[in-house]
Amino acid sequence: MPSQALFPKAKPGRLAIMKPPHAEADQFDPELYCLLHDGTEGDIAFYKHLCKHQAQVLELGCGAGRVSIPLVRQGSFVVGLEQDRGMLRLAAQKRAQLRQSLREKLALIQGDMRRFALNALFDRIVIPFNSLYCLGGEEPVRECLSCCFAHLKPGGQLAFDCYPMYRGEPPFEALQGWLTTLKSGRQTYDVYENSVQDPERQQFAVTYTYKDGQNRAFAYTLHHYYLFVDRFRPLLQSAGFTRIQERLGFKGRQRDGQRVWIAEAPQKTSQSPKEDPT
Ligand SMILES: C[S@@+](CC[C@H](N)C(=O)[O-])C[C@H]1O[C@@H](n2cnc3c(N)ncnc32)[C@H](O)[C@@H]1O
Repeated sequence: MPSQALFPKAKPGRLAIMKPPHAEADQFDPELYCLLHDGTEGDIAFYKHLCKHQAQVLELGCGAGRVSIPLVRQGSFVVGLEQDRGMLRLAAQKRAQLRQSLREKLALIQGDMRRFALNALFDRIVIPFNSLYCLGGEEPVRECLSCCFAHLKPGGQLAFDCYPMYRGEPPFEALQGWLTTLKSGRQTYDVYENSVQDPERQQFAVTYTYKDGQNRAFAYTLHHYYLFVDRFRPLLQSAGFTRIQERLGFKGRQRDGQRVWIAEAPQKTSQSPKEDPT
């Protein structure tokens, strides 16, 4: 179901059918967002393992630094590229709390992961937590993967995870109702989800409404443009990647857990052209 698969923070015991409180959509608040969407179990351990002893790491769609900061703490120099200014502001606040030697190892850049040109090559590029589904569909994902390829050192690796969608499966039922209750400081929020799938366009639109103890409500809508699982390998191949691995989940082998891909930029094999002795 979208609530469980898309937004795994949701420990959504149940979705009671009740009307969410009235709120304006698109009051996107990065702090409320981060309260609910805090990754998939095992993802940080996975990305840390992948980036261990790697000097230069790029995280695309780094959000508030949930993954970038543990990678910095582990010793890598990390560039976090993010489009949303609010998310970047939160990441910068977290960076400011690091001791100086770590702070200097995290560069935050506002940019678009569909087309970026950084004057650097990386050992690892990571795109955690469904961020490829934010880009608008297959063409922007293709552009993004090509940019990744161009920014990897020979033998460098790209890794990303997305929830799996399968061709020919019946559409999800629209969901509307209470999702969970969250606490932030002294504030408690009841969170309601309203999710709608458009199977023709391979999209989900999911509206989250947070109602606080003073009866105020805040809402925003996330749009996901998903790809079927069988599209990732050909897209990675056409971008030039080799040694493509597809894993079922971060832990164990769960068909419906996050799907994880790891792909490599080829080692340079061509010999430098022999000089003409004449
Ligand atoms: C699901 S969140 C993941 C955040 C972070 N990687 C994590 O795991 O917590 C997706 C992030 O990608 C960002 N994003 C979406 N489209 C983007 C784009 N075209 N370029 C850069 N960042 C983008 C969003 O603003 C959001 O912060």
